[in-house]
Amino acid sequence: MSNGMETGEPLDYLILGANGQVGRELSRALQPFGHGRALGRAECDLAHPGAVAETVHRLKPKVVVNAAAWTAVDRAEEEPDRAHRLNAGAVAELAGACAESGAALVHYSTDYVFEGSGETPHGIDAPLAPRSVYGRTKLEGERAIAAAAAKAMVLRTSWVYAAHGHNFVRTMLRVGRERDQLKVIDDQIGAPTWAATIADTTALALHDWRRSGWADDRAGSWHLTAAGAVSWHGFAVAIFEEAVALGIMGADEVPQVVAIPSSEYPQPAPRPANSRLDIAPLEQRFELRMPHWRDALRQCLRSIAS
Ligand SMILES: NC(=O)c1ccc[n+]([C@@H]2O[C@H](COP(=O)([O-])OP(=O)(O)OC[C@H]3O[C@@H](n4cnc5c(N)ncnc54)[C@H](OP(=O)(O)O)[C@@H]3O)[C@@H](O)[C@H]2O)c1
Repeated sequence: MSNGMETGEPLDYLILGANGQVGRELSRALQPFGHGRALGRAECDLAHPGAVAETVHRLKPKVVVNAAAWTAVDRAEEEPDRAHRLNAGAVAELAGACAESGAALVHYSTDYVFEGSGETPHGIDAPLAPRSVYGRTKLEGERAIAAAAAKAMVLRTSWVYAAHGHNFVRTMLRVGRERDQLKVIDDQIGAPTWAATIADTTALALHDWRRSGWADDRAGSWHLTAAGAVSWHGFAVAIFEEAVALGIMGADEVPQVVAIPSSEYPQPAPRPANSRLDIAPLEQRFELRMPHWRDALRQCLRSIAS
């Protein structure tokens, strides 16, 4: 895989959003998939109309994996146009270019496309009712892909973290050392999902899809998260337990983690209370078994510890 140079060799895959949590892991996980390139914002700025279509037409990749997005959920409430451009406008352009060039497209979406009522996992075809600008723009992106009739796979994931980037795990490890007490929401439930799990699962699903000759029964929407579910509070407690077990923190450094309702921590963008996504269809179709969120968390923290 290369970042900068064009070698003239046919491109098996192109990653967009190469410097994000998922993008960085994709650059690792897709290496056995063939000759690839990974472009960050500096090489392909999705905010510029025409840029992503020009890139696809110039590089002619067989597959595009789009990990670029506007992910600042609260800021999207103040800057809906910029969020819309990234999550919907650029995605429509990308899907159109893939349809024209015959490239297969893999794109990521979110649990925030659901309203989040109930206590059971959302099925792939459950009613869509986003509560935030971010969720609405991501849903528009999904619809733009369907409208473009590209060969496409949309992978909805949730609560993404990695050893790098901005995420809850890194925030907990940092502020946990600074404070004696943390208040963490306990009435939103979902599956924390390690970016490496997303990238590895994408590679496996993509490999299967290519071997099937891009069969229609692999295309469409899937839910890709770790197995199991927990509240943000339960996740925070687990992060500190694992961090102590791995020697990342001393037991005496761990703060008290107090459970609070969402109403005590108002945020500009409302979040779904139930973010559980049904992963069974993905597991069955691609013959996979998603790891439990706690096992993946331990692996991620091991990589931080080392
Ligand atoms: N994070 C989550 O909790 C979560 C949950 C559910 C679904 N998802 C979805 O999963 C996917 C990957 O998310 P992630 O967590 O890896 O996000 P991330 O770490 O925020 O990465 C997003 C990437 O998009 C890039 N980007 C932003 N504006 C751009 C532009 N104008 N042109 C080109 N690239 C631009 C960013 O570039 P810079 O590095 O230059 O800023 C960044 O590298 C996204 O589709 C997201 O909606 C995420």
